[in-house]
Amino acid sequence: MCGLKKDQIYQIAIDGPAGAGKSTIAKLLASKLAFTYIDTGAMYRAITYKILKQCIPLNDVHAMIALAKQTEITIENEHIFLDQEDVTDLIRSEKVTKGVSTVASVKEIREEMVQFQKCISQHSHVVMDGRDIGTVVLTEADLKVFLTASVEERARRRFEELREQQPDVQLKAIEEQIKQRDYVDENREHDPLTPANDAVHIDSTSLSIHEVVENITQLFCEKIKKESVEKLVDGR
Ligand code: CDP
Repeated sequence: MCGLKKDQIYQIAIDGPAGAGKSTIAKLLASKLAFTYIDTGAMYRAITYKILKQCIPLNDVHAMIALAKQTEITIENEHIFLDQEDVTDLIRSEKVTKGVSTVASVKEIREEMVQFQKCISQHSHVVMDGRDIGTVVLTEADLKVFLTASVEERARRRFEELREQQPDVQLKAIEEQIKQRDYVDENREHDPLTPANDAVHIDSTSLSIHEVVENITQLFCEKIKKESVEKLVDGR
């Protein structure tokens, strides 16, 4: 697709706030381009799951860091393994969702995760989504996207997602939870959620998933063509 070079590794970074549709879109995009999809939020969720399971209080930073250092996280076929246990579904619980931003604000935990994320993006073409991908993890990505939507629309989408498994879930409560998580993610000291200077902003409030995927595919193809022409012109 769009003239990818055989000897080059391509990277697409997608960042944005909670519920903007990053993971659905990144997954579809990766499948369309035959790239590997990497969900970095799942890694922070996995370590949060382990911390909660071991009853470590979320204000015991030393214990959380020590635990993270003894933890093995792997990803295989879009399933996430925590010390070899498949935790793909377990990390989506409400308890984990509530605690994850606190865990993700710990510098040493971020360093472990970022190192791992950089490592796994060295060997295959990737679409990676998260909060700091364009600014910290894949600073040289071929394309950086900052995906947003209004908070009401993001809450509505999450509500629809959760309603089947949790019939008594409340839309207002989800909206509050999303606002709270955005606040912590945007205001933390280390690698806060912020668009990279060279990111393309896409507001998905009134766009379908298909439209966003098409839009990003087109942007990526244009970028690749531009880079190829620039290399030819420069004789690089
Ligand atoms: O619920 P949603 O899919 O929007 O979030 P997620 O991608 O599963 O990420 C869960 C949480 O992990 C975020 O709210 C952030 O606190 C943290 N995170 C992060 O700090 N850095 C990343 N690269 C990815 C996630």
